[in-house]
Amino acid sequence: MMKHIYVDANGTYPVAPKHYDDIAARLKLADGNPSSIHAPGRNAKIALEDARTAVAKLIGANAQEIIFTSGATEANNMVLSGIASTHKNGPLPKIIVTAAEHSAVIETAKALAQRGLCDLAIAPVLPNGAVDTEKLLSMVTSDTALVALIAANNETGVLNPLMELIGQIKKRNPLTHVHTDAVQLLGKTDLTWLGQSGVNSAAFSGHKLGAFKGTGALFLKRGTRLHPFVTGGGQERGRRAGTENMPGIVSFGLRCAETLGQEVAFATRMRQLRDLWLQVLSKIPGAVVHGSGADSLPNTVNFHIEGIAGDDILLNFDLANIYASSGSACSSSVARPSHVLLAMGYSEWIALNSVRISFTAENDADDIALMAHVLQQVIERK
Ligand SMILES: Cc1ncc(COP(=O)(O)O)c(C=O)c1O
Repeated sequence: MMKHIYVDANGTYPVAPKHYDDIAARLKLADGNPSSIHAPGRNAKIALEDARTAVAKLIGANAQEIIFTSGATEANNMVLSGIASTHKNGPLPKIIVTAAEHSAVIETAKALAQRGLCDLAIAPVLPNGAVDTEKLLSMVTSDTALVALIAANNETGVLNPLMELIGQIKKRNPLTHVHTDAVQLLGKTDLTWLGQSGVNSAAFSGHKLGAFKGTGALFLKRGTRLHPFVTGGGQERGRRAGTENMPGIVSFGLRCAETLGQEVAFATRMRQLRDLWLQVLSKIPGAVVHGSGADSLPNTVNFHIEGIAGDDILLNFDLANIYASSGSACSSSVARPSHVLLAMGYSEWIALNSVRISFTAENDADDIALMAHVLQQVIERK
């Protein structure tokens, strides 16, 4: 049987076969509604709170600061809409987002602005993909309600200097809510500092860590004010009503517990693979890596090859059972140029023809050799 090579971890991290069994076993013992006071309900509540504690531990937070959601898209929406709805009769809340945010942030911010609920300003990024810190800071004023700053970009892997910027934004305006979409950092680096970093909120997604799809979490720093997103039965301490998605939450919690303490080893392994792939690309005339020169995730390489369509590479990869992605997986069924690459100053052709390789900790050097071989064939056929 031909080997399957999955190099799309930033799109979603595959669920390990054993994980299905582990979760089924746990759910059988926690089948009640966590809001019920009888024994099955209490068992479910224990499983729910264990998962909350595991997520909190991985980011150095308090369990009470974790709100489970349907994913990072919802967690990001919760913050942006929550801040926008604080406006009563005064001036519109001023929201700043970077040009390289995931669409869950940038499209939500644009929609809120279009509905007249906030004043939106977009902070530019440098050609290497990191936010232009000087410009961002110059935009923060006494009436800035929110700054949303992606921690690691899902397409390019480029990191923003989060720690440094939280302090500098707060220095300019201590009341500004600083939010980060930290989806791509979870499990790829030690994040146990985040809970104490001063950031007001952070969005996470379980399926980027090998948990089931459809579950995420919002870290909301204790004392941070935010309007509830979903109202109803008062679950999640009144911030996100609705009976909890127990399979997803238990799965997310287990993956967090399994990841704690392993992040650096995973990152080292993925970095070795990424460096091998970068060596392959360095020998290909016309290959350009996007975001080089910036700090980046250990597992991500976004590139294009002059004159070669991205789809040509992806199609041939797929035929060889190599699964990679173009631009952002969340929008890859729509052939739109990547807004992130456009913001970095690349042409529309490049923004349409980039390929993203994002390694898992399970890939190996043989995978890279096969990927290099298939890529070479695509180039030679041209
Ligand atoms: C940086 C980033 N933010 C948000 C999301 C959306 O996460 P979810 O699929 O949990 O809604 C993704 C998914 O690709 C992502 O990479």
